[in-house]
Amino acid sequence: AIEIGKLRDTTGLITLDPGYKNTGATKSAITFLDGEEGILRYRGYRIEDLAEKSTFLEVAYLLIYGELPTQSEYETFNIEITHHTLVHEDIKKILEGFPSNAHPMGVLSSLICSLTAFYPDSLNPNRSKEEIDLSIIRLLAKMPTFAAWAYKNEMGHPVNYPDNNLDYCGNFLKMMFALPAEKYEVDPIVSAALDKLLILHADHEQNCSTSTVRIVGSSQASIYASISAGINALWGPLHGGANQSVIEMLEAIKADGGDAKKYLDKAKDKNDSFRLMGFGHRVYKNFDPRAKIIKKAADDVLGKLGVKDPILEIAKELEYAALHDQYFIDRKLYPNVDFYSGIIYRALGIPTDMFTVMFALGRLPGWIAQWKEMRENNEPIGRPRQVYVGENERDYVSMNKR
Ligand code: ACO
Repeated sequence: AIEIGKLRDTTGLITLDPGYKNTGATKSAITFLDGEEGILRYRGYRIEDLAEKSTFLEVAYLLIYGELPTQSEYETFNIEITHHTLVHEDIKKILEGFPSNAHPMGVLSSLICSLTAFYPDSLNPNRSKEEIDLSIIRLLAKMPTFAAWAYKNEMGHPVNYPDNNLDYCGNFLKMMFALPAEKYEVDPIVSAALDKLLILHADHEQNCSTSTVRIVGSSQASIYASISAGINALWGPLHGGANQSVIEMLEAIKADGGDAKKYLDKAKDKNDSFRLMGFGHRVYKNFDPRAKIIKKAADDVLGKLGVKDPILEIAKELEYAALHDQYFIDRKLYPNVDFYSGIIYRALGIPTDMFTVMFALGRLPGWIAQWKEMRENNEPIGRPRQVYVGENERDYVSMNKR
C-alpha cells in the first residue's frame, strides 16, 4: 500500500511506496504486461507467437525499432551485427586479469563497461542517431563474445574468436564450447532452444534491471555504462539470479532424498528465510505466460536431446504440490520464467553459474529499447524522494567528548 509521508518536518507531502509496487516511473510503448490475465506482448505481438515463429534478432529489432523488420531490414541488421562480433584485442587483457573463480556476471558487466573506454564517443550525450545505432549494434554483437569469454576464463581455456559464418546463437555456442584441435558442430536443436529462451527473456517492462538501465541512462551516462549497471541489477537472486538458485535448490532437494513437500513446508515457515526459488512474481498474480512456454520447451528439448534429468521430475512435483497448497494459492504464487529455464540450460550443457549470463544475453535488446525510449522522450533524471526518519538537528560533539 502507498503511504503518504511528510517530505520535511513542516511542509510538503510525499508518497512512500517501498519497492515501487504501485508507482509507475514512465510511459512506455514497448512491452504490455497484464499480471492478472497472464498476458505479455512485445510491441503488441503476443509472446506465444513470437516464441514460436520469430527469431531472437527479429525480436531484438522489433523491441528496439518498434516494428518487425522487413526481409531487407533483417538482413542488414544481421550483417551489421555479424561485422561487429570481434572485440578489441586489449579487452582480452582485461579478461585475463580476472581470477578464474570470478563470477561470469561480474566479468560480463566489467567488459561491457570497458566499452566506454574503447568507444569514448558514447560519453557524449548529444550523439547523432547513427552513432547511437552503431553503439546498439556493437552491444548486440559483442555481448555473446564477452559472455562466452567469461566462461572460457572460468574454465582456464583459451578463448574462441567469433565465427561469422554462423547465426547469432550458433556463433555463441561455438565460442562457448569449441576446444582447440577438436571439431565443433552446432547442434540445431540446441541452437533453436537457446534462441527461444532468449526471445522469452527479451523484455519485461519496468523490472529491477530495466529500471536500473533507465535510471542510470537518465543522468545521460553512456549506453555501455547503463547496460553494465543493468547486468549488475540482474545478478541478484531475487531477479535474474533466480535461475541459478532454482537449480541449486532442486539439486539440494535431490541430494536430500527428493522430498519436495519438505521444502514446500520450509518455504511456508515464516521463521525460515528460505523461499521457493522460481516461484512468485511482483506482477504476475495468476500465471507467468513465459513459464508455460518454457515448461513445454523443457519437455520438448530434453526429449529431443534424449536427456533424462531427475530434477525435471522434482520440479514438476514441486510445482504440482505448490499449486495445490493453500499458502501458495492465497499469495498467488506461481512458477515464474526461471523455474524451468535452468533445466533447459543444463540440458544444453550450459553450466549453472552461466544461467544469469544467458538471461542477460536475452534481456539485452529490452534494455537497449528502454534506454533508447527514455532518451528519445527526453525523460528527466530519475531521482526518487524519501521520508526522513533520522535524528533532528544536533550540535557537533568533538571526538574526545564522545
Ligand atoms: N516462496 C515462499 N513464499 C513466498 C515466495 C516464495 N518464492 N515469494 C513470495 N512469498 C510470500 C512472501 O513471504 C509474502 O508472504 P506474507 O504475505 O505472508 O509476508 C508474500 O508471498 C508476498 O511476497 P513479497 O516478497 O511481498 O512479494 P514481492 O512482489 O515483493 O516479491 C519476488 C516478488 C521477489 C519475485 C518473490 O516472489 C520471490 O522472492 N520469489 C523467489 C525468487 C524468484 O524466483 N525471483 C525471480 C523473479 S522473476 C525474474 O526476476 C525474472
